Amino acid sequence: MTKPKVFITRNIFPEAIEEIKKVAEVDLWTDDMPPSREILLERSKGVDGILCLLTDRIDGEFMDIAGPQLKVISQIAVGYNNIDIEQASKRGIPVGYTPDVLTHATADFAFTLLMSAARLVIPGHIASHDGSWKTWHPLHFLGQDIYGATIGIVGMGRIGFEMAKRSTGFDMEILYYDVNRREDLEQKLKMKHVGLDELLDQSDFVSIHVDLNPSTKHMFSSDQFRKMKNSSVIINAARGPVIDHMALYSALKDKEIAAAGLDVTDPEPIPNDHPLLTLDNCLIVPHIASATVETRRAMSNLAATNLINGLTGVSLSTCVNPEVDN
Ligand code: GLV
Repeated sequence: MTKPKVFITRNIFPEAIEEIKKVAEVDLWTDDMPPSREILLERSKGVDGILCLLTDRIDGEFMDIAGPQLKVISQIAVGYNNIDIEQASKRGIPVGYTPDVLTHATADFAFTLLMSAARLVIPGHIASHDGSWKTWHPLHFLGQDIYGATIGIVGMGRIGFEMAKRSTGFDMEILYYDVNRREDLEQKLKMKHVGLDELLDQSDFVSIHVDLNPSTKHMFSSDQFRKMKNSSVIINAARGPVIDHMALYSALKDKEIAAAGLDVTDPEPIPNDHPLLTLDNCLIVPHIASATVETRRAMSNLAATNLINGLTGVSLSTCVNPEVDN
C-alpha cells in the first residue's frame, strides 16, 4: 500500500518527523526561511496532509491547488490567523493546532517582558556594556513598581488566565476585559471583569492575550493609548497587528505611556528602519514566547499527532474545526 504524502514546511523536532515517517512519505522543507508562495503551492500539489507554520498562508487557493485528496492541515502554533478556517471546513478538512502545551511558556514570557520593560533591563544591559553607566544615581534607570500594581489583561483565554495567576505572586490587582465574562475563572482567582476603557484607565500594566481576527486588528491605537496612564506599560505576546504600530510609536515617543514589551510585531520581522526601533522604551524580541526546548518539543509532537490522526482517519487531538473532524 502506498503511503500518504505530506509536506512539512520547516524543520521540527526530529522525533516528531520520525513518527510521521512511520505512516507517510515526507517532503521536508529544510531551509530556515519559509518556502515562497510558489514553492509552497508547488510542493503541496497532491499531498494528503500538510504540517505548517504561522508564516505559511493556507487559504482557499492553497487548498484548491493541493487538491481534493488533502485530508488534514496541522499547524504548529496556537494561533491560526494564517489559515482560512472557513475554506478548510467547507472542504471538510480538519485543522489541527497546538494549544495548552505552550500556555505556560508563553505566559512566563509575557511576564518576563512585563518585568523587563518595567524595570529597564535592556537599557541597563546596554549601558553596562557601552560605557554609559558612570555611577549609581538616585534618578537614573527608574522603572515602574510591579509589586502591588494593577494589571489589565485583555483576553481571558488560557494564556490570559495563566498571566493572571502569575500576577497574584506579585500581589497585583487583576482586571480583565474579554467579550465573554469568565465567572468560572473568577471563582478560581480574584479578578474583576471590566470594560476596555476602564481597564485602560486603571491599569499600570496592560497585557494583550487576544487572538487576531477582524475585531481585534488595531484594537490598540491612538485612542486606547490616550486612555492609558502615562506611567503604564503595554505588553503584547499575542499577534502584532492587534497594535497599530505607528500609534504606539507616537504614544511611546510623546510619553503618553511609559514603555512597551513586544514579542510580536507587524510585520514580522520588524524592518530595521522601523521607527519603533529608535526608542529605548520599546523592548522588542523576535516572536519567541513559546521558545523553550520542552515547549517546542511538545508543540512538534502534538502537531505530528494531529497530522498522523488526520491521515489515518482518527480525530485530531486538538482541532480548530471539530465539526468536520472524524
Ligand atoms: C505563536 O505565536 C503561536 O500562535 O503558537
